[in-house]
Amino acid sequence: MATTLTSALQARLQPMVMPVRRDLRFKLPADRIGDWHEPAGPIFTAFLNTFSLFLPIGERFFIDSVRSYRDRITDPELKQAITAFIGQEAMHGREHEELNEILFAHVPVAGRIERFVKGTLDSVRKYLGDELSLSGTIALEHFTGLLADSVLRDPRLVEGAEPHYAALWKWHALEETEHKAVAYDTWEAAIGRGPRAYASRALGMTLATMIFWGIMVPSFLMVVRNEGKLADSDAWRKFFRYIMGDIGMLRVQLVNYFDYYRPDFHPWDHDNREYLKKIDEFLAEQEKLVA
Ligand SMILES: [Fe+2]
Ligand SMILES: [Fe+2]
Repeated sequence: MATTLTSALQARLQPMVMPVRRDLRFKLPADRIGDWHEPAGPIFTAFLNTFSLFLPIGERFFIDSVRSYRDRITDPELKQAITAFIGQEAMHGREHEELNEILFAHVPVAGRIERFVKGTLDSVRKYLGDELSLSGTIALEHFTGLLADSVLRDPRLVEGAEPHYAALWKWHALEETEHKAVAYDTWEAAIGRGPRAYASRALGMTLATMIFWGIMVPSFLMVVRNEGKLADSDAWRKFFRYIMGDIGMLRVQLVNYFDYYRPDFHPWDHDNREYLKKIDEFLAEQEKLVA
């Protein structure tokens, strides 16, 4: 994100955003798993469903990575934020597990994809160790923070979608924004900000980008094929519009993605905390939705 030095400084001088663990349920209608986002079409729906397959395992990995450094943190505010971060990610994992259970019954290949993601992350932890696992975590938290920013910035991304599925993704986006700097602040407190820490952080982002997209793209295509939609050109057109076109969930974040490689980067340099003002309104709607 093209932030000026002044706005970056202003963002860092603001009080810390303290995440809150919220135990929400979404009662997702199983019969809508393949077409819950009608305006965006079945291929965009398959893209988000495939992404969901990464979440419970990925979030477990984030929790373990941050937890392994928690004892080195002395700042009580950051310690409190870490506890809330762990609570939020655990709740996200639980709710995405529910979505994934529905998906397993609908798309036979989904279970295999999830097992492959788990095997990969287990190997990362085993062979690359705690520091690179935390580095990968802050990189992937940057990804989820950017996707969350897209969802909160452009209402068209969830407009017209089945309300329970839309609420799940909106809730996730709000909380990813709320805790977007927690893993990063843990990194800075435990590993530091010098050239060695920067090299390790940049390597983590490069590996995370390669591993994530290297699994995500073929998995997504397998899901689309399993649903028999590979030749649906109208659905592909809608997908590209939502991903890279005028709505462009990924397109609008490309610059922000590369911002991570700035040596003095911090997640709150991109100050989007104004979206968090919508949390109470969201919670009231959510309560009505699942009543
Ligand atoms: Fe999450
Ligand atoms: Fe997160």
